[in-house]
Amino acid sequence: MRVVVGADDAIATGANLVAEVVAARPDATLGFATGATPAPLYAELARRRQAGLVDFSRAHAVALDEYLGLAPDHADSYAHQLHREVTGPLGIAREHCDFLRGDAPDPDEECVRYERVLARGVDLQVLGIGRNGHIAFNEPGTDVASRTRVVQLAPSTRQANRGLLSTLADTPEAALSQGVGTILEARRILLIARGAAKAEALERALRGPVDPACPASALQLHDDVTVIADEEAAAGLAQAGAIRST
Ligand code: F6R
Repeated sequence: MRVVVGADDAIATGANLVAEVVAARPDATLGFATGATPAPLYAELARRRQAGLVDFSRAHAVALDEYLGLAPDHADSYAHQLHREVTGPLGIAREHCDFLRGDAPDPDEECVRYERVLARGVDLQVLGIGRNGHIAFNEPGTDVASRTRVVQLAPSTRQANRGLLSTLADTPEAALSQGVGTILEARRILLIARGAAKAEALERALRGPVDPACPASALQLHDDVTVIADEEAAAGLAQAGAIRST
């Protein structure tokens, strides 16, 4: 596991990794997290694309998760957010994007379909981390072998994500989410953490035991994980002198 701490340095490291994956395989499949954390990474990638430094025209995009019940054209759906903030600015063609359908008539069947999509191979999966240690919408208690499925959202997650949707009452109580086991099958993983609110979760994920109580700790089982964090999110690691690059 490689851990890079800093503001600009860390974002550059993350962008270099994405660019490296696409340079090696122009038709790479990239898994994108939504949420606030990866925004500077996506902005940097869009800047590099504008400057002609990286080309995503043959790349494919998949999602980590989606709110149950939201159609892709719903402004608060993750599919909509990904098109608006990631695949659009990066120039990834719509026909190369295959996201979970929150409005699928049979959500369980949609999760099975998505496992088949992901089984073709994810070259790089970008992840954020929840304050409670979740990755995608795998809340504490999730088995490390879990697959893509319908999940109930923890009250704290609904609360934390409230700003993205109109009101807490409007925030769906369930989502479709890649499982921890599904995520671990990506060839490479890039975990991003920003802000003091993520410090405890990041410390547990990287330094604690592999424990379903902190789903992100399962990343210790993967052999190609890069973690980029700002100083605030890495506070617990720094105090323990545990920042390392291996
Ligand atoms: C988003 C996702 C979530 C977020 C996490 C952090 O697709 O799967 O696990 O990465 O909730 O969210 P932010 O970045 O908004 O703090």
